[in-house]
Amino acid sequence: MFQSKIAGIGFYVPEKVVTNDDLTKMMDTSDEWIQERTGIKERRYGQKHKETTATMGAEAAKIAVKRAGITLDDVDFIIFATLSPDYFFPGCGVLMQRILGINGIGALDIRNQCSGFVYGLSIADQFVKTGMYKNVLLVGSEFHSAGLDFSTKGRNVTVIFGDGAGAAIIQPTKEEGKGILSTHLHADGEHAEKLAYINPGCHTGVHLGKEQFGYPEDEYGGAFLTEKMFKEQDIFPNMDGQFVFKFAVTKFPEVIGEALQKNGYKPEDIDLLVPHQANLRISQFVQRRLRLRDDQVWNNIQKYGNTTAASIPIALCEAWEAGKVKDGDLICLAAFGSGFTWASALIRW
Ligand code: COA
Repeated sequence: MFQSKIAGIGFYVPEKVVTNDDLTKMMDTSDEWIQERTGIKERRYGQKHKETTATMGAEAAKIAVKRAGITLDDVDFIIFATLSPDYFFPGCGVLMQRILGINGIGALDIRNQCSGFVYGLSIADQFVKTGMYKNVLLVGSEFHSAGLDFSTKGRNVTVIFGDGAGAAIIQPTKEEGKGILSTHLHADGEHAEKLAYINPGCHTGVHLGKEQFGYPEDEYGGAFLTEKMFKEQDIFPNMDGQFVFKFAVTKFPEVIGEALQKNGYKPEDIDLLVPHQANLRISQFVQRRLRLRDDQVWNNIQKYGNTTAASIPIALCEAWEAGKVKDGDLICLAAFGSGFTWASALIRW
């Protein structure tokens, strides 16, 4: 069995900065409300007609590949995590593959929302450990701004999310005690609709009641999107913020503790915790619960908002670029999100 490591990381965020004040021109909200509840000051939005989830993923991938000291031709497998894909199908993995010109290798799309990058890391780790692949390209990318509700009705969700992409190359390592020490994956579908983008889909009301979506009786076709959905603007993500918050602040410490315990460490041993950037208040709560110092936790949600599957690789990469992820450091990644899903990874860098 090989041990695997993150050999190179990269991130890409679109140029366009959207401040909280910019959002007040579209919906009834305020900079004060957003900063107080979430810590977010601004986020980036992709350029429509030019950028997509797949193109942003490709930009991040090119940087990760270069930093890993390989070429695109060395990549032997792709894992692409997103909840905002370019197409309903096929997935973004193949679209990014086409952009990068590395057709022929396998491309796996995964749908684990905010936990997508850590789930993907775990999958890559298994492939590398068994010797099946040597250079797995793992990408988390989101183009949220294309699918958000910019009316006041959608403000509780819309103000939180931003666009961007992060990527990593996972390789085998022979360095004793280094690399990905363990990964821990969890999910609980009980509360699937508490943070969800339900339409379009083939559910035809099975989980929530047919009447709610106005499905025609016993007809084939046309059920992904109905007239009622459009009329009632039931075509955007929805979130029960307080419910999600309560679950997140329980599951983050739990899954971090699981990773530490598995490897015989304590919170004080962590050099850097890179939590999924869900909400600054959630990260601060987790920090207090684990009694971590400010310099042990990396947050950048203030600049980018919540970029879901891209948030951990963007944060990890920024921290690395700032010299906060050094050789031999103990790095903990932790995520929580829609599903619900939650996950962690402990890495000796
Ligand atoms: N601007 C201004 N007011 C807003 C608003 C916005 N963007 N969004 C909601 N409000 C209003 C609500 O309409 C409500 O008004 P009312 O009291 O008149 O009914 C009020 O603010 C409080 O709403 P509530 O939903 O209770 O706010 P909250 O304190 O729970 O904060 C979140 C909302 C979303 C910031 C918070 O619940 C949260 O961060 N939850 C976790 C979300 C998360 O992390 N999601 C990603 C997980 S991966």
